[in-house]
Amino acid sequence: MRLISHFSPLALGLLLLTACGSSEPTMEVSSPDGAIKFTLDNSADGLFYSVTDGGTDIVAPSRLGFILTDSVSLDRFDILKSKTFSHDETWETTWGESRYVRDHYNALLLEMKQAEGDLLVNLEVRVFDDGFGYRYIFPEQACDSLVIMDELTEFTLPAEAMTWAMSAENAYLEGYFENKPIAELDTVRTPLTVELPGKYLAIHEAALTDFPKMDLALVDSAALKSRLVPWSNGVAAYVATPFATPWRTMIIGDRPGDLVTSYLMLNLNEPCAIEDPSFCKPMKYIGVWWEMHLFKTFWYAGDAHGANTANVKRYIDFAAENGIPAVLVEGWNKGWEGHWPANDHFSFTDPYDDYDIDELSRYAAEKGVQLIMHHETAAWTSNYEAQLDTAYQYMKDHGMSNVKTGYVNQLMDGKEDHSSQYGVRHYRKVIENAARYGVNIDNHEPVMPTGLQRTYPNLMTQEGVRGQEHSAWDEDGGNPPVHTVLMPFTRGLAGPMDFTFGTFNYDNPNSPHARVQTTLAKELALYVVIYSPLQMASDLPENYAKHPDAFQFIRDVPVDWDMTVVPDAVIGDYVAIARKDRNSSDWYLGVITDEEPRALDIPLSFLDPEATYTAQIYADAPEADWVTNPTAYVITETTVSAADSLPVNLAAGGGTAVRFIKK
Ligand code: NOJ
Repeated sequence: MRLISHFSPLALGLLLLTACGSSEPTMEVSSPDGAIKFTLDNSADGLFYSVTDGGTDIVAPSRLGFILTDSVSLDRFDILKSKTFSHDETWETTWGESRYVRDHYNALLLEMKQAEGDLLVNLEVRVFDDGFGYRYIFPEQACDSLVIMDELTEFTLPAEAMTWAMSAENAYLEGYFENKPIAELDTVRTPLTVELPGKYLAIHEAALTDFPKMDLALVDSAALKSRLVPWSNGVAAYVATPFATPWRTMIIGDRPGDLVTSYLMLNLNEPCAIEDPSFCKPMKYIGVWWEMHLFKTFWYAGDAHGANTANVKRYIDFAAENGIPAVLVEGWNKGWEGHWPANDHFSFTDPYDDYDIDELSRYAAEKGVQLIMHHETAAWTSNYEAQLDTAYQYMKDHGMSNVKTGYVNQLMDGKEDHSSQYGVRHYRKVIENAARYGVNIDNHEPVMPTGLQRTYPNLMTQEGVRGQEHSAWDEDGGNPPVHTVLMPFTRGLAGPMDFTFGTFNYDNPNSPHARVQTTLAKELALYVVIYSPLQMASDLPENYAKHPDAFQFIRDVPVDWDMTVVPDAVIGDYVAIARKDRNSSDWYLGVITDEEPRALDIPLSFLDPEATYTAQIYADAPEADWVTNPTAYVITETTVSAADSLPVNLAAGGGTAVRFIKK
């Protein structure tokens, strides 16, 4: 596998820069359609930006800059040159929610010098029809390294902004998104979703490759300031020039669905760096996994060890019989006894005695099924980095091209935050190493995703979400019905989620206080609503065997899409998402609700207007209810066309899943 050498955006930016002579520098740039206007204002007080959309204020004047070590401020600038340029290109995704993505923007590049010093810093702004991104660039200069202590970037929003925000406290990004007025925020993670009268915004970042994650802290009633997640010594970032920070981004839309169908974050990442990404294949998988979260079996050796050869063969058989390409096996390697997060020496080449990896590799290959490797590092990253070659070679020697990595521990190496520059560098190293071995990654306990899958499509999916496992055992009883309704508009904006739904059985005697809080039909609809190129059918084979007619939808539903539309949604109430299969002319629709039952009419105008379709509808039965009757569903078939609307009746906590087959 040869990786294409890294293309430098810094070089391109500077090549395009031309001197403006003595004329006033350009300080404004608008979207190609002219609606979004990004304006800069430089004075002795500092450099500020503001944004309007169709004349409506979106961002009031907000500061830009940094504080460096020894309290040196980098927030007052002399502008040396400015340049505007435009770009319009359509590129094809390796996999994703849309096959083609248009990258169309107007850009402004400001070349600046620290007003009271010699440091050079540029600001690059790109304004698209669906939002904007900007980043700081430290060009090559006499000073070849910088220590950043704080980023001063602000987002000052209209005071009436309502938000959906997750607190920055959770190390694994597994908190709930709460609906709050901006003035009530504390320090929150991005994506931060915002509703203004008639507008929807999402603040996040793109291309986080060698910098800390940007959280947002409320510093004034409606002003949010960047808070870079620091190293344990208090430093935010060590930077070697030339260097570009991640993009600070905002999607701006008129409808909730505009946030979901924006590809601005991907556009602000570098093109694919893997020369032949054909091994990056979307697929469904099952796993020796949910039974451990139900405490039926365990990761560690003993009578109830889940990853024993016979049990894994049972899963391989089920996968082969149902056309599911892969089986994940957790707890295969020695070291899970006791309080395993304390285990700083997990080996990734040492299987338990009752797990015959050679026989299982042979058996899986014979059945046309792949095994998915599991590397739970317990966030002992030095131990993992020391094994990156041997562990990945071992995986390849056993015919595996996919690994689920995990980082369960409050800190990495007992010291550093997952979202710090240390963490970001570690994840990046693992992704690049995996690419060299032709291995795809499903990363649990990650830093919040920022679109790196465009550059490294072997970074298939990530957790960083309060996923289905919480509904197996969480003290709070499990994710409430509203949780998945919010996901497409919050965490989902950061990229694919390994949420792991697909529960068909709602009775867990080992954790009776907790439950998956959905109907079975909603579990099916989630395969369309929540996007991931690796999609798990997480329940046990014996539970699927009880509902073969409903399981048919999981067999059929694709994991790679030609295009995505959002026919209807109210954030926090319900959402309908339709996607066209990348490999056939079928469309799929998922509609889900929170705890309220709802009757909706979903316009089918996304279908080909020239065609008719057979709609296979998996719906809540009239008596369904997530609390009292989750497994009551009905499967019906009807003929529809683009001119129709589909009446959809959702139970409390329910959903509807539809496959449209072109006639
Ligand atoms: C947490 C992960 O999210 C979960 O999927 C996994 O089973 C456990 N860690 C053990 O690695």
